Amino acid sequence: MSGLLKFITCGSVDDGKSTLIGHMLYDAKLIYADQKNSLILDSRVGSRGGKVDYSLLLDGLMAEREQGITIDAAYRYFNTEKRSFIVADTPGHEEYTRNMAVGASFADLAVILVDASKGLLSQTRRHVRICALMGIRHFVFAVNKMDLAGYQEKVFRAIAYDIEKLMLEFTSDSRAIMPVSAVEGDNITEVSLKTPWYQGKPLLAYLEDIDVSGKKADSTFVMPIQRVSRPHAEFRGFQGQAAGGSLQTGDTVFILPSHETAKVNKLLAAGRETGEVTAGQAVTVVLDRETDISRGCVLVKEDHFPVCRLFRANLLWMDDTELVEGRNYLMKLGTKVVPATVLKLHYRTDVNTGDRIPPKYGRKNDILNCDISLSEKVVLNSFENCPELGRFILINRVTDMTSACGTICHPLRRSDNLTWQNLDVTREIRAGGLNQKPCTIWFTGLSGAGKSTIANALEKALVSMGRHTMLLDGDNVRMGLNRDLGFSERDRVENIRRIAETAKLMNDAGLIVLAAAISPFSSDRKNARAIIGGVFFEVYVDTSLEECEQRDVKGLYKKARLGKLPNFTGVDSPYEIPENPELTVFTERNSVEEIVELIIQRAGL
Ligand code: ADX
Repeated sequence: MSGLLKFITCGSVDDGKSTLIGHMLYDAKLIYADQKNSLILDSRVGSRGGKVDYSLLLDGLMAEREQGITIDAAYRYFNTEKRSFIVADTPGHEEYTRNMAVGASFADLAVILVDASKGLLSQTRRHVRICALMGIRHFVFAVNKMDLAGYQEKVFRAIAYDIEKLMLEFTSDSRAIMPVSAVEGDNITEVSLKTPWYQGKPLLAYLEDIDVSGKKADSTFVMPIQRVSRPHAEFRGFQGQAAGGSLQTGDTVFILPSHETAKVNKLLAAGRETGEVTAGQAVTVVLDRETDISRGCVLVKEDHFPVCRLFRANLLWMDDTELVEGRNYLMKLGTKVVPATVLKLHYRTDVNTGDRIPPKYGRKNDILNCDISLSEKVVLNSFENCPELGRFILINRVTDMTSACGTICHPLRRSDNLTWQNLDVTREIRAGGLNQKPCTIWFTGLSGAGKSTIANALEKALVSMGRHTMLLDGDNVRMGLNRDLGFSERDRVENIRRIAETAKLMNDAGLIVLAAAISPFSSDRKNARAIIGGVFFEVYVDTSLEECEQRDVKGLYKKARLGKLPNFTGVDSPYEIPENPELTVFTERNSVEEIVELIIQRAGL
């Protein structure tokens, strides 16, 4: 089989991944002489007491040598006469699941190491699940350390049986199980005489021959637009990487999400004009007419791609912070980045048993099935149909870190029949009638900090200035609209979302809104800001916990300290101090009147 094979190696710590690949390269004479010498030198400090330590060939990072473990995905490129390879050697321990997922997302095939003396470990099962989640459909199980198991067929068969049983759960296009010894070199590049009962190919030959092209070869043309190139007024090209199928000059393409059509006038690849482009190529497409295309649009040859804002997905949660239903993230899918909310967590998959467990929230390394809703319609597809538009990452809006990677199971149609109605009487017209600029002043702070008191005094001042206002107070809203919500993290997320949506409606009505809620989590305040849009002015009412507790107007701190009020903010539930509020006010230093005056000035009310 010709063509590049991208594969990943996974296994638990000490399963011998690096040694396996190292041995393969060494035996196949795929390393350069100087590398070989340095390998022998390095082995003096390596962990095999003077014998060549093949793992040193792969463990490129100094830190890895010091710790004797692999800590990041290392990519190696090598060629045999038959084929080119890129291999990602990824870390074995649980902490580094993230790197493994990244490695898996780039690969077509996974070589999964199983220690013959240990059998299938929960880590191995996790690795298979992550590979499957990230779309790998070709698996090779290298049952390693057969030398330590006396090359016994019985040991191999028992493990092979467990592997077959595990694989019943997954869709795979090819699967091989082979007995190897990475250290001794059995069945790595040559068939071992010590395993006469094994009829299959050695690992390298198997990797040279395997066909991983699958459905990709006949799939239809898709290209997410990365960039609009406009070097001068006469030229406008759309650049991106062709993700499937092929495209020729003269073809008609659809532009999604608008569904406009155009003909391909010119195609450029690798700096020159060409008649046809195929999957994998970086392409510039010139169309025959003016179209409304920007980054995030998608060019397709067949117009059957869903454009929607709700879908079912599988996620690998990688954030230290728990995933709570209702939380808002940024989703990156193809070249598009949009706000996304995890609406409902359906189940968590137990890595060992494959059982589906209803989750309250998602924890680091959990594999979760959930519904995700987007702030706008996006071109997407199930991972099965189009991997490029079927996989995504979620980014934490507060830390900017990748919180999860995921694949789309299927779009959900229930939001498709909703169309935003553009109303003739706009927010501007309504506000104009009231002769004011609508905005939301959002008060956050501990219970008893003084949010309601300040908001109340501010509203009085504004009304006396002739302003039209509305005050949304956490306690009050919780007695009506939000009476179904308690104080779990999940309920607080929803509480803030509803207050924000209400504030937005009232801003649309032209009103100045004052919202006072503890809103203890930064991500929810960020989400409120995004929902409300327009002018959002965050006021952090900074009153120390000691002072709030001293005041204890409602007697709630006392109750909480006595253990009679669980999840009380500041006592056994966290409050995340705002990093960049528009204004911080100090009730222990300034009077209510002074604070009100300051807000009116700063917010330009
Ligand atoms: S938020 O955390 O979801 O923003 P919100 O501001 O709506 O809270 O409501 C907080 C008010 O509910 C407090 O001022 C207090 O009177 C009351 N309350 C009752 N139980 C709790 C609790 N466990 N934690 C915080 N506030 C509570």
